[in-house]
Amino acid sequence: MKIIQSPEEMQLAAQTLRREGKTTGFVPTMGFLHEGHLSLMRLARERCDVLVASIFVNPTQFGPNEDLDAYPRDFERDEKLCREEGVDFLFYPTPENMYLDGHSIWVDEESLSGVLCGAARPGHFRGVCTVVTKLLNIVLPHFMVMGEKDAQQLRVLRRMVRDLNIPVDIVPGPIVREADGLAMSSRNKFLSPEERQEALCLFQGLEKAKELFAAGERDAAVLKAVIREIIEQTSGIVDYIEIVDDESLQRFRTTCGEPVELLEKPALVALAVNFYGARLIDNAVLAK
Ligand code: PAJ
Repeated sequence: MKIIQSPEEMQLAAQTLRREGKTTGFVPTMGFLHEGHLSLMRLARERCDVLVASIFVNPTQFGPNEDLDAYPRDFERDEKLCREEGVDFLFYPTPENMYLDGHSIWVDEESLSGVLCGAARPGHFRGVCTVVTKLLNIVLPHFMVMGEKDAQQLRVLRRMVRDLNIPVDIVPGPIVREADGLAMSSRNKFLSPEERQEALCLFQGLEKAKELFAAGERDAAVLKAVIREIIEQTSGIVDYIEIVDDESLQRFRTTCGEPVELLEKPALVALAVNFYGARLIDNAVLAK
């Protein structure tokens, strides 16, 4: 495994691989790797000649009051895990060589980014879109694997690639959970054992919603209320509980005379809950 810090060097290596006709798969991450990240690497490994992973805690996707400095980091451990997964190139740039002095071009998605996490974290998706565009231009992959854990991110980046004609396929990877259902996240590290137990309420809320949906419940307000009740039994502070059209990320229309939001098309149930400063997200898709 080759570790590359310089964007120029990574881009040169990528250009050479392209000339040699190699298929490159790419898994971008912010490090502090867990099974969720590793599952994406395995998915990519099966489909490519050359596997590139990146570790970069991207400062531009964190707001001023967010956990950029506290974001967990452990490069030595991450490096070992990448080797074990058969990563060929590990791209590990610094903020200084990714964002040169006077950096002034940004990629802004204007339709899907204003809701859910985008509403709570203004500028977050601008930072994500900008860094992923840069990473794609540096790594030049044929495909990139992204987790369904970050449902909105996946949808925003699919739109970006479509609207900007970026020649890369996005391959989704399923959410990896702990044995008890908690979605794996680098931020789970911030939870005490008791908080971790309480954090299961996100998964439990989603499971309940899926169960009710399977039994025929289509009223978004009913489903959201059931989830809220489960979460409010814990010390978690709800940032949002939303059920939106899986494609547009907009709420479902209410029918004339009957102010009820009915789920007609595949729906994304998305949750964000704060546990003493750790902001956890989870989601599920409800479809017939
Ligand atoms: P990060 O949070 O490190 O996540 C990297 C990738 O791992 C993302 O595609 C994310 O959806 C996926 N992932 C995280 N937890 C997962 C889980 N439990 N199951 C499956 N996949 C999971 O997302 C980012 O970094 C950044 O925003 C990035 C795209 C790298 C841009 O900076």
